[in-house]
Amino acid sequence: MGVSIAGRSFLKLLDFSSEEIEYLIDLSAELKRLKHEGVAHRYLEGKNIVLLFEKTSTRTRCSFEVGGMDLGMGVTYLDPGSSQMGKKESIEDTARVLGRMYDGIEYRGFDQAIVEELAANAGVPVWNGLTNEFHPTQMIADMLTVRENFGHLKGLKLTFFGDARNNVANSLMVVCAKLGMNFCACGPKQNMPEEDLIRTCEQIASQTGGSVTLTDSKQEGAAGANVLYTDIWVSMGEPEELWAERIKLLSPYQVDAEAMNMAAQDAIFMHCLPSFHDTKTTIGADIAKKFGIAQMEVTDEVFESAQSRVFDEAENRMHSIKAIMYATLK
Ligand code: CP
Ligand code: NVA
Repeated sequence: MGVSIAGRSFLKLLDFSSEEIEYLIDLSAELKRLKHEGVAHRYLEGKNIVLLFEKTSTRTRCSFEVGGMDLGMGVTYLDPGSSQMGKKESIEDTARVLGRMYDGIEYRGFDQAIVEELAANAGVPVWNGLTNEFHPTQMIADMLTVRENFGHLKGLKLTFFGDARNNVANSLMVVCAKLGMNFCACGPKQNMPEEDLIRTCEQIASQTGGSVTLTDSKQEGAAGANVLYTDIWVSMGEPEELWAERIKLLSPYQVDAEAMNMAAQDAIFMHCLPSFHDTKTTIGADIAKKFGIAQMEVTDEVFESAQSRVFDEAENRMHSIKAIMYATLK
């Protein structure tokens, strides 16, 4: 029997086997081919989905909207603050209402416990579009992007630089462990993933042939890396006051030309985006004024270089979110 995840929620990658994750990457590649060849794939005609966003988004929202429409579905978007959820209606009641109307529910917001509670009560698949702890849909896009570059995943070294305790870093550690890759978290000791999650991933990696390394040495992180990955230094939902401390703490882990030169010959640069690689944003400009730095987690040089895959990665969000919806709703 082939792999099937029909009817399941997609809340975190720890819930999925290596085979199920590989199946989603394969399905993403197939849906990408159909889209590029202009072949219609309205496989979910007649279904409807709702997108609940308690934090802002460009890629994730647009991927669910375009992906849903390409699959033939109706899509409702609820922006931060426009539903009753949380304020006048509990998560549990919201889930029970939306589950009566929709075939699938996407949630982006705060605690992982919220998306888990939605899923426990909705009676339809719930997809995690980012919580404080995890960003699992991003991972399918990222692994598709890595595989497109190297032709395989097993044995590759992926290093995450900077705020290695955030949702993207946590999720990369899990997906790399599941897929037999060598994950390295490179940053200050106080910004490493939670001990429990590290232990869990080490245990998974010991079964798949992967590994988990933590280092505060930029050189060790970059040496021989196939993928150099970073993310913003202060995530959504964290207080603005953290910028000063994070800039001081994480500046030594900026992905720059020097780091790329220490990496493998064919190394690529990845970032989930959005990124502060210049001052063309209000926050970027504000930080430049306050702290005198024009680029943060990655230099503009690396971001714009031939090794950068950030826009392939962004496009792949759409193909992979479509795959996740199709696989769970079909
Ligand atoms: N990478 C990502 O999730 O982007 P958005 O915040 O724009 O959705
Ligand atoms: N760590 C970032 C990811 C954005 C896609 C955040 O949570 O803001």
